[in-house]
Amino acid sequence: MANLKSLLVPLLFLLSSSLQAFAIDAGEFGVEIGDFGGQTVAGKVYAVDKNTLYVRGFKFNVRDADAFFWAGKENVPSTSGEIVRYPAEPKTPDPQKLPVLNDVAFILKLPHGLTIKSLKSLAVWDKTKLKSLGSIVIPENLVVPEPRVLPEFSRIAHGLRSGNVTILDAKTFLIPDLHYDGTGPDAYFLVGNGSKPHGNGVKVPNEHGSLNVLHGYNGETIVIQLPQPLTVYNIEWLVMWCIKYNHNFGYVRIPKDLNVPPALEQNKTGVRVLISIP
Ligand SMILES: *[C@@H]1O[C@H](CO)[C@@H](O)[C@H](O)[C@H]1NC(C)=O
Ligand SMILES: *[C@@H]1O[C@H](CO)[C@@H](O)[C@H](O)[C@H]1NC(C)=O
Ligand SMILES: *[C@@H]1O[C@H](CO)[C@@H](O)[C@H](O)[C@H]1NC(C)=O
Repeated sequence: MANLKSLLVPLLFLLSSSLQAFAIDAGEFGVEIGDFGGQTVAGKVYAVDKNTLYVRGFKFNVRDADAFFWAGKENVPSTSGEIVRYPAEPKTPDPQKLPVLNDVAFILKLPHGLTIKSLKSLAVWDKTKLKSLGSIVIPENLVVPEPRVLPEFSRIAHGLRSGNVTILDAKTFLIPDLHYDGTGPDAYFLVGNGSKPHGNGVKVPNEHGSLNVLHGYNGETIVIQLPQPLTVYNIEWLVMWCIKYNHNFGYVRIPKDLNVPPALEQNKTGVRVLISIP
């Protein structure tokens, strides 16, 4: 587990300078929670994972208000709420008042252990006037996306084996404890459709983003990402396959009933927001 953490930490950062410029693939923003939809506060809010929200088309038009995002345990926002910091990657020790914003998109991280399911409302709250400037109710039946644990790679050839594969988000697989003898002359990760793997799939870059022939693995934990425009919702298997010899080394099936965090990414710079691991 220590191994897994150290691998993910470098991925767990936000691009501080352009929180407002996320490019999101495939129109997948997470599960919609609600819409502020007001004159003062507007914008849609989505659940990304258990403690992460994504807000799009956000507008706030009150200058110099003592206003903060506010997580509430009641449907009607009250003084008992807690500040949810904006931006999510703060540059100051103390929470900053919400500036005027016009049609921006950003991530919000709930504070210290709060989960979306533990809340009833999200508001923009004026701490001086003690009133809500706009709020949404978090539906009780909301199904929050979460990473999905799959079985391990089947063990067919070339010493391929792994721990249980996890789908971290709509484009990202975590493969722990991967072993492979490295002797396949034309071996790649491939994804595709159909009841069983075949050589007409799409190549998935290795953990370094390279499409070179795979080298051997000796217990490493790796993270690989599907190329555009694929997501886990439009593939049926992930295989390690030797194209030259049409040889299946082992594979995992991708279930249909997925509700995993969206792949929010900054495509130009390659910076992504990786989702917390359960
Ligand atoms: C790994 O996958 C197997 C088969 O799907 C499952 O029974 C097992 O609980 C999983 N292990 C973990 C740690 O999730
Ligand atoms: C699998 O089929 C879906 C359509 O059902 C398609 O969108 C997708 O690109 C296919 N996947 C691959 C890897 O070819
Ligand atoms: C990011 O990708 C989207 C579509 O996936 C594209 O419309 C946009 O131009 C890309 N942005 C950059 C900065 O490359």
